[in-house]
Amino acid sequence: MTQSIDKRTGKKATTEAPEQTRHLLRHLEHPNIHRLADYRKAGGYSTVQQVLGKVSREDLTEWLAVSNLRGRGGAGQPVAKKWRRVADVPGQRYVIANGDESEPGAFKDRELMECNPHQLIEGLILSAYAVKATRAIIYIRLEYELAQERVGRALKEAEDAGIIGGDVMGTGVEVEFEIFVSGGAYICGEQTALIESVEGKLPYPRPKPPYPTVYGLWGRPTVVQNIETLSAIPVVVGLGPENFAAIGSPLAPGPKVYSVSGHVSKPGNYELPMGTTLRQLIAVCGGISEGRRFKAALPGGAASGFLTEDHLDLPLDFESLKAMGGEFGTGTVMIFDQHTCMVGAAQSLLRFFHDESCGKCTPCREGTRFMFQWLTALETGHGSQADIDALARLSGAVPGTTCCALADGACLPVATGLMYFMDEFTYHAQHGTCPPGEEHIHLPHDDVQGAFHDERAPALSEFHPPK
Ligand SMILES: Cc1cc2nc3c(=O)[nH]c(=O)nc-3n(C[C@H](O)[C@H](O)[C@H](O)COP(=O)(O)O)c2cc1C
Ligand code: SF4
Repeated sequence: MTQSIDKRTGKKATTEAPEQTRHLLRHLEHPNIHRLADYRKAGGYSTVQQVLGKVSREDLTEWLAVSNLRGRGGAGQPVAKKWRRVADVPGQRYVIANGDESEPGAFKDRELMECNPHQLIEGLILSAYAVKATRAIIYIRLEYELAQERVGRALKEAEDAGIIGGDVMGTGVEVEFEIFVSGGAYICGEQTALIESVEGKLPYPRPKPPYPTVYGLWGRPTVVQNIETLSAIPVVVGLGPENFAAIGSPLAPGPKVYSVSGHVSKPGNYELPMGTTLRQLIAVCGGISEGRRFKAALPGGAASGFLTEDHLDLPLDFESLKAMGGEFGTGTVMIFDQHTCMVGAAQSLLRFFHDESCGKCTPCREGTRFMFQWLTALETGHGSQADIDALARLSGAVPGTTCCALADGACLPVATGLMYFMDEFTYHAQHGTCPPGEEHIHLPHDDVQGAFHDERAPALSEFHPPK
């Protein structure tokens, strides 16, 4: 239980930490569930036996439609809608599990792959069955070595037991699996860049349409789905679609793994219903660390907009965040306490996006660089009101002009930083430092030097005359 002040009433409010469910993070109750024997003891692969050859592909898709399971990899696409879009053409189809997870603060898919890999495989079998795919690929981030090992061993166990391969559990259904290790860049997680990289090319996103469900891997219909989305498919079948739909937010229901990082006492992965509020989530994490005050949060990873104290009771789900111009994204929640310099926080995020932009689109390649440089100027005491005006203009102009969503995501922390913390930005421009009152934490000097010494970029002085 944590105590805070309710901004509307001005009274002390206590927040009970909500009950955690264990549908996805089941290894917390069954620590060896990553081994086949323990997974089966806990009821594993029963949904494959229940569905394959007994439930039609159309009915399985209808179950997913009733459950309203929406993708957990960022865009929140309904799973059933994606399955129905798979082009009805003869020949090979693919399902791909996207385990690239390279955004700062994201670590839910890692835990799911390392600790509960058989549930992912079970979800992939059901997904492949629904869209008539006979090939499944598990795409894993380069640095996730334990996940590669655990998923690899789980696949071997499943293959030896006849759970995957040419005759899945004696049903006559074929689903062959392979692991693909990513090249180690954030852009590899974008679904079309991922497909390009599996084809052996550089991971540049493709223009869309056509979407992968029509023209995917090797030009064939392909479903790309997030690790958590796939892990939730056996939960839909196991609980029943209506029961799944009754958990959490009605428009985007189900259990959700929230990865919480930053200034909370107990950061980590927490499984709670979709629509859990920020206040509840902070309570589950033992409150803000060292008894400090909450200042801001990024609710959906680096590529989402800042929230403030006024949003502590907002349900964290796709609709609620979209309605206020933000993104729920992956449900990766970063918490910032009173000592955070918001100019510095935005600058740090833009450094990431600038570094990770693949460079294909000018508004993204140049836009992230300009925004990083203007933020660095403000952060290091070289900025002016012109930088703030330029940040506002560019963060409003870039979204919707690029080939993938990286650039749109990069603009969100800038636009919302300006919207909610303009006082701090203005003070930086006028006084070259943070407003008095709070002691703020800044990036180490070496880190910000990169903004000026990036050999790909012209010097900052070319954009702003020296003062
Ligand atoms: C720059 C960028 C990086 C992405 N990285 C990931 C990732 O690591 N994992 C993921 O599941 N989706 C990622 N996505 C979203 C995917 O393109 C795709 O929408 C998602 O895998 C679909 O799965 P879902 O429908 O289950 O959410 C990324 C998107 C962008 C624009
Ligand atoms: S938006 Fe950025 S990351 Fe995406 S394709 Fe364009 S340049 Fe590459």
